[in-house]
Amino acid sequence: MSVIYNSTEAFLSPLPIDPASRSVGLGAVIEASSAFLWTLTAIVGASLLAWFRKPWTDENGHKIPKGPIGLPIFGSFYSLTRYPELTLDYWAKRFGDLYSIWLGNQLFVIVSDPNIAKDLMVTNGNVFSSRKECLSKAKPSLLVEHRRIAATWLSQRVVDSYSPVLDRESLSLVKALLIESKGGLAPVDPQPYAGRCSLNNMTTITFGFRADSIHHPLVGRALKPSREFMNCTGPMSNLIDFVPILQYLPTPLHRRAKKLHKGLVETYGGFIKETEQKMMEGKTVQDCLAKTMVEVRYKEELDDLDMAILASAFMIGGVETTAAIMQWFSALIPAYPEIQKKAQEELDRVIGRDRLPAIEDEKNLPYCHAIIKEVERVHNPFWLGTPHVASEDFVYQGKFIPKDTVVVLNTWTMHYDPARHSSPKKFDCQCCRSDEARPLDVWSWISNSLSATKQKARLTSFSRRVCPGMIVAEREIWLTISRMLWAFDMYEIPGEPIDLKEYDGLSGRSPVPFRIGLKPRHDNVAKLLEKVEI
Ligand code: HEM
Repeated sequence: MSVIYNSTEAFLSPLPIDPASRSVGLGAVIEASSAFLWTLTAIVGASLLAWFRKPWTDENGHKIPKGPIGLPIFGSFYSLTRYPELTLDYWAKRFGDLYSIWLGNQLFVIVSDPNIAKDLMVTNGNVFSSRKECLSKAKPSLLVEHRRIAATWLSQRVVDSYSPVLDRESLSLVKALLIESKGGLAPVDPQPYAGRCSLNNMTTITFGFRADSIHHPLVGRALKPSREFMNCTGPMSNLIDFVPILQYLPTPLHRRAKKLHKGLVETYGGFIKETEQKMMEGKTVQDCLAKTMVEVRYKEELDDLDMAILASAFMIGGVETTAAIMQWFSALIPAYPEIQKKAQEELDRVIGRDRLPAIEDEKNLPYCHAIIKEVERVHNPFWLGTPHVASEDFVYQGKFIPKDTVVVLNTWTMHYDPARHSSPKKFDCQCCRSDEARPLDVWSWISNSLSATKQKARLTSFSRRVCPGMIVAEREIWLTISRMLWAFDMYEIPGEPIDLKEYDGLSGRSPVPFRIGLKPRHDNVAKLLEKVEI
């Protein structure tokens, strides 16, 4: 079995920054230099002041967790600009499962062990449920009352009602791949198809429309703000988030945040306005989040901004995440023909070739399920979770976590822990055949650790912060991946090796561009998809 992240030294280096890897134009250099001077001046002033006020110990002498010292003023920011998950992993091995770093004048505590994560985020969720508001991300996190509306739309009962949307989009994806691959003769880049599938699911659920091609103008319009948002995600993405004074100065970073916020509100707010207009004109509007929000806006006291932000949460939370898992699956599976074969034997045995797998088949297809869990382990779309903030001073195992500390879950280290996975760098579905040995993923530790009662509370009150879109995500991913396995033999194109080490962007979300071969496994693939609309 081949090894993911094989011995590339640069990739495994704790500070794998390659300054030569990017080229910039003169304009960008000038803008960057003035931005740099602004930034530097502001940081020096602010951080010198803040430095002397750092809460190193509490009144009982408990110290903050140990960690790297970092540069004066900037802290560890520059160690985290590329491949932050590897640097954080390196520090976890050096400083332990709970360590601290400074970015600007902001203290971070990095959690690299699931039990500590559970103790802090679940058992003491009342202290660690607040979010770090990231100005660079320009999307405020949802207020409790808005999370309730989101949760209603993402509850099991409502998801059941729109599962036909997920079903249809996964069929449309398989059919589009079948056509594009010309029966196995033409290489295909599956990434835009996976992207359109996730996007269509979210635009249908949120706004009631879909795009019938990856070239449809709506794809660009709907994707642009969420893509830009994702480009500046990751807790380490932007200095402006960590040096409060920068948020009050007219720096380019600030302008970028404002532009992004405007883009989110205009685009998604615009789609809601179009829905509202249709409703006012008495036209039929498909059930969707936008329709519900318009209907309940006075009762729930939602203004235009609230509605746009709520819709943004769906678009940002639900598009690039699920798409990334489908994309990594498509990149990984051709490299593991024996895993693919085993999954297809299971599909033939349990489902046969006269129908495609459905949602209810997942429990009977443990090996296919294990493949998905393994993709999520090796390429989780949220290596660093979503930063949470301590709402009060807290002492954990004798270590002081002051109020306003940002707490980050280092899930990369948890997923690649040799104590939990005998060969963590291998793509190995054997390790997750049963639920007991299920690999750790962002959702499973948190949802497994919530009791049934608490899970119910989670769906109604959302006092704790977990992803409310889990049910949709799991169904969507299951339908697409199990159906791709059922329909195609996926293989590497000779002479076009797929890069499984590198990734696109800072967040590790998508593989770098690649193409694969997709050969239909039998005649029923085309036959059963004949009536499916793209
Ligand atoms: C693989 C897929 C997904 C992953 C890994 C994922 C992960 C996450 C995580 C880590 C959070 C933050 C929880 C916290 O506060 O700690 C989150 C929040 C959220 N997710 Fe997901 N998610 C996925 C899919 C989805 C889908 C499909 C939807 C929508 C249908 C969705 C909607 C949301 C919403 C609305 C929030 C709350 C945002 C806020 O409070 O501002 N997610 N998700």
